[in-house]
Order: sequence, then C-alpha cells, then structure tokens
Amino acid sequence: MNISIIGTGYVGLVSGVGLAEKGHQVICVDTDPEKVRSINEGVPPIFEKGLAPLLEDLVEDGRLVATTDTVSAVKDTDVTFICVGTPSKPDGSIDTSFLKGASNDVADGLDAKGRYHMVVVKSTVVPGTTEDITRSALERKGFRAGEDFGLGMNPEFLREGVALNDFRYPDRIVIGGLDDKSKKILSTLYENFDVPLVVTDIKTAEMIKYASNALLATKISFANEVSRMCEKIGIDVYDVMDGVGSDHRVKRDFLNAGVGFGGSCFPKDLKALIYFSRAQGIEPRILDSVVRVNEQQPIHTVNVLEDMMGRLTGKKVAILGLAFKADTDDVRESRAIPMVKELRRRGARVVGYDPQAADNFAEVVDNFEPVESVEEALTGADGCILQTDWDEFKGLVEDDFMVMADPVVLDGRRVLNPDDLPRIKYRAIGR
Ligand code: UDX
Repeated sequence: MNISIIGTGYVGLVSGVGLAEKGHQVICVDTDPEKVRSINEGVPPIFEKGLAPLLEDLVEDGRLVATTDTVSAVKDTDVTFICVGTPSKPDGSIDTSFLKGASNDVADGLDAKGRYHMVVVKSTVVPGTTEDITRSALERKGFRAGEDFGLGMNPEFLREGVALNDFRYPDRIVIGGLDDKSKKILSTLYENFDVPLVVTDIKTAEMIKYASNALLATKISFANEVSRMCEKIGIDVYDVMDGVGSDHRVKRDFLNAGVGFGGSCFPKDLKALIYFSRAQGIEPRILDSVVRVNEQQPIHTVNVLEDMMGRLTGKKVAILGLAFKADTDDVRESRAIPMVKELRRRGARVVGYDPQAADNFAEVVDNFEPVESVEEALTGADGCILQTDWDEFKGLVEDDFMVMADPVVLDGRRVLNPDDLPRIKYRAIGR
C-alpha cells in the first residue's frame, strides 16, 4: 500500500521504517524541514538501535521519502497514519493541539485527493478522542465518515531501545475501526505480520493502549511495594517475584523492583488515564497508588543509601546511569531527576555519569555537570547508586569501586553480583 505518516518523532519514524521494510511505500511528513532533510539523507533524527542502517537502505531503494507537504503526501497515498505527540498538560490531561493540526492538514489533503482515504490515529489518545477530533475535523470539511473516508485507531506498543523489534514482532496488533471497510483495510495492511490481530471498535482500541500501560506500571509499583517489605524482613524480592511470575496467569515480566519507572509513556499515560477516570466520575484509587509508590521509590532509594552511609551532608554521591532505562539517551521522567534533588536537599554533592544520556540530563537538571567516565564519578565518592541497567555497569568489578573514599554501593537495578564484591558495602533495592 501507499502510506503517509504524519509526525516523524519516535513512533512515526519507527512505524514508517517498519512498514516500508514490510514492503509498503512510505511518505513521512514533518513540519520541521531539518528532520525531513535528515531522513531523506537516510539519517534518523532520533537515536534508536538498528534504525540508521535500515533507514539508509530504504531511502536508497526509494521505499521511504520524507516531505513537509502533508497535502501532497495524503493525495498520493491510500492510508495516512497520524503519529503526532500528545504531551501532558499541567492537569495531567493530554494536549491534543498537534492532533487537531494534523487532522486539519489531512482534511486539506482529502480535498485535493477527491476520493476515499483511510485515516488512522496512532498517537496515544484517551477514549473518544479519535472521533471527537480527527473525525470531526474531516466532517467539518464536508467529508462523510465511511463514505469519503475510513477511520481507524491503531495504538503502538514500542519500547525505546528495542522499538524496531517490537514493531516487527509484536505480541498483537490492535486495530480499532469505524466500520467493516476500515477494519478490513487495516487488517490487510498488516497481513504479512505473523501475529494475532485484535480487531475492535475505535474507543476500545484507545482504551487498550492506556489499560495496557497502566497495568504494566501497576506491576512495577506492586513489585516495589513488596520489595520494601522484603528489605525489612531480610528476603529478596527477586526470588519472591520469580515464584510469583512463574504462574502463567501473572508472568514474570515487569515485576523487577528498582528505582521506579520513568520514560515518555508510563508516567504520562497514567496521568492522562487518572484525569480521564475522574472526568467520568470514577475515583482512580489503584492508579493513584501506582503513581504514589513510583514517586516514593527514588526517595526510598535515598533513604536506603543514607541508612548505609549515615548523614549525607557534605558527602559525595555518584549516580551511575542518568537515562530512564538502558539503551536510550532519553531522560524524560528518569528517576535520577528526583533522586538528585533529594540527595542535594539532604546536603550531598552529587556527580553523575551516563554513556549516552549525560547531555540531555544536564539540560533538565540545574547546575549538573555529568562526568566523562565511571572512574571519574566514583573517585573519592562516599557512596554510589546504580540507577540505570546499562551493560557497561554489568561489567564493573570490585577494583572499579576501590577508588571510592568509602565503597558503599546501592544497586537500584540488580546489575551487580554481591558474591563478586566481598570488600564492598553492597545493598540492592528489594534485598
Ligand atoms: C513503555 C511500554 O513498554 C511500551 O509498550 C509503550 O508503548 C511505551 O512505554 P518504554 O517507556 O520505552 O516503553 O520502556 P519500558 O521498557 O516499558 O520501561 C519503562 C520503565 O519501567 C523504565 O523506567 C524501566 O526501567 C521500568 N521498569 C520496567 C521497571 O522498573 N521494572 C520492570 O520490571 C520493567
């Protein structure tokens, strides 16, 4: 099929590349001419493992092009995916202004095309939004839903760092459609993916995305709450969750206790679902608690470190890992941010190192100058928190920590094996 993708952020670009790889012809659209130029040169404007060589090949083969011109992209294609951001507003609800803009642009494209077009929202939006915003924008221009255009909602479940793989081999593809024709077009588009299709209505598809992320975040906060009990009674939450997770009804994934969850999705999507729930008159007790446990977890981490080190005033603390998780330079909602604030509030001097995310972190935390290496961070430090599960940290050995003034190490991500660290004062969250 000929597909246009509006928005070349993370979701749009990975989806565009993934669909082009599967044999579709893709036009990526973005308002930023710099991004468009970069994509047309085969260089992704974002960092994601494996994306660069694939994009280069697809651009070279003419299977993916980028443009700033939405109208001609829509006119020249059969299906348009809207993949623009829906950031949080201060009250937690989603800001749909980019979606509104994109939907109006698609309406202009439909005008120019003059025949049936399939419009799909991939952006994460609360139930009702695809119809309230995208359908309305097209109808305001005089197009009839089902007659002049098809409408779909097709949420993404891409994890940063492994997004291409998640696109190629998803557990399922969720397709919400306005009518049978819309569902049929989207099912055909995904027919050479060998995975189950969940075909449903638009609102259900919108809710599946939020409910999925909320449940995964709930698993993490649940594991973190249990981990605090385990710390008190001297057992290991990882052993507990191995036992819990071997029940096929539960599954072991996303039960790893640690410093809490961050990133661009879980915190934002929880806030949006909480707002949505209240707007329906339903008190979101579970979701509220999931957020509260997650906000306490970095503070709890600092409490454990203080318990190991004594008063933090005047001490040097090294944070290893500033990204919200490994294999990304993304620091959005990274647990290192509240951790640095809390350590400083208690009078500690904080240094930090990250193999990819240092510059981004320095932009969001005032007066923070990341250092260039693990060694520089640890030298003379009185304590250390392992905040991100980078492979580089998994390879650290006891001698690496002996440059510290006092080798006190708190493992927030289970990257080290204490059996190999007899001279280190080691503790891990949940153990
Ligand atoms: C997530 C969802 O997984 C994805 O489906 C959605 O579309 C976007 O949001 P992402 O934010 O890239 O993806 O990262 P993910 O790997 O899910 O981790 C999210 C956070 O939870 C990270 O901070 C991670 O460190 C943390 N986490 C994850 C835990 O603390 N424990 C776990 O067991 C799993």
